[in-house]
Amino acid sequence: MHKIYTLDDVKVHNQRVLLRVDLNVPMKDGVIIDHERMEKILPTIKELIEKGAKIILCAHLGRPKGVDLSLSLQPIADALSKLIKQPINLVRDYSKTPDLQQGQVAMLENLRFHAGEEKNDPVFAQQLASLADIYVNDGFSVSHRAHASVEAITHILPSFAGRLMQQEIEALTQAFDHPKEPIMAIVGGSKVSTKLSVLKSLAQKVMYLIPAGGIANTFIYAHKQQVGKSLCEPDMVDMVMEIEAIALKSGCAIIPPSDVVVVENLEANAKYRTCAPQDLTYKDMIVDFGPETVNDIYKIAQLCRTFIWNGPLGVFEIPPFDNGSVTLAQKIAHLTKTRDLYTIAGGGETIAVLNQAGVMDNFSYVSTAGGAFLEWIEGKSLPGVEALKKSNIQIKNQNGKVINGN
Ligand code: 3PG
Repeated sequence: MHKIYTLDDVKVHNQRVLLRVDLNVPMKDGVIIDHERMEKILPTIKELIEKGAKIILCAHLGRPKGVDLSLSLQPIADALSKLIKQPINLVRDYSKTPDLQQGQVAMLENLRFHAGEEKNDPVFAQQLASLADIYVNDGFSVSHRAHASVEAITHILPSFAGRLMQQEIEALTQAFDHPKEPIMAIVGGSKVSTKLSVLKSLAQKVMYLIPAGGIANTFIYAHKQQVGKSLCEPDMVDMVMEIEAIALKSGCAIIPPSDVVVVENLEANAKYRTCAPQDLTYKDMIVDFGPETVNDIYKIAQLCRTFIWNGPLGVFEIPPFDNGSVTLAQKIAHLTKTRDLYTIAGGGETIAVLNQAGVMDNFSYVSTAGGAFLEWIEGKSLPGVEALKKSNIQIKNQNGKVINGN
């Protein structure tokens, strides 16, 4: 095990660089609806272009089982090509090395069209490796997957972290491994079942834990309160009790909402009312936290030095039920500026909230990762990050000297 080598440790001039990125971007009818992940990898791509590398991007989109042209990376190659202001050729045949000059970029078609990718197949990794001289992983958000382009490849090519990977690891290490205390965390999203381990883990680590979205509804239900037609998982009641027991033992306060926004029919601009959770009727559906709860969270944040956020407070994609999440994002952005509060947010929906609130640049750090962010919070090690630490393929520095002792 050694330190993670970065682009500072290698000469990339005239080298073929296989660059793993996460281009699993949200799309609707073939159109990219959020460019955040593309923008975040630009520093690494631009640096490699400036240094005269021959860049072969590789990425996945969706979860295809075999070739599925609706999940082709072509629209993403086109959009990225506009951002870097040069053509990007999409390579479908992995058996031929793309013909590139220094500073030129190609992109391999969706890695997941090949069964070997998700199987972490060394033969498939070898095929990828044969296209390049060195490997750079800039896809932190896919590093919780032990896939061939993330893990197996590091056993074959000298391996380095890209700039986004470096940034993500530094920020998450600061927030979770050496946090400034007290810490608070908001975990939103629809289901307790998908965030069970993260809730258990946070209950042991933070001083204030705030379940939000559908997760909060299940907590309310577990206390034998009416949740009406709200999203809720009755079979998770025992789990809620277990999380609460862990929190009690660890001195973590689980904060329930003091008011919620409810509708009878969920649609844009539906008629709504704000009430205390105990005043819900069987016809009601909780769609957001109310202003009092948002203010309570803001007050708690003033007592803390680390603020962690994953998952919106309500059905933020249907206006005006984005109010709670957007207002909170703005209040936390203000505290980030005015207080000694390290604020970190992660996950696609949380990024969408911050974008909507216009505060994307006002948090201490915003991670592009979803699943990888959650696994890091849980304290799990990520196969892609571990692989970079363990890779012992000989690495030479700018002067041709071997720097990793092999
Ligand atoms: C993500 O979008 O979180 C990553 O690209 C991983 O995608 P996956 O969950 O389909 O492996």
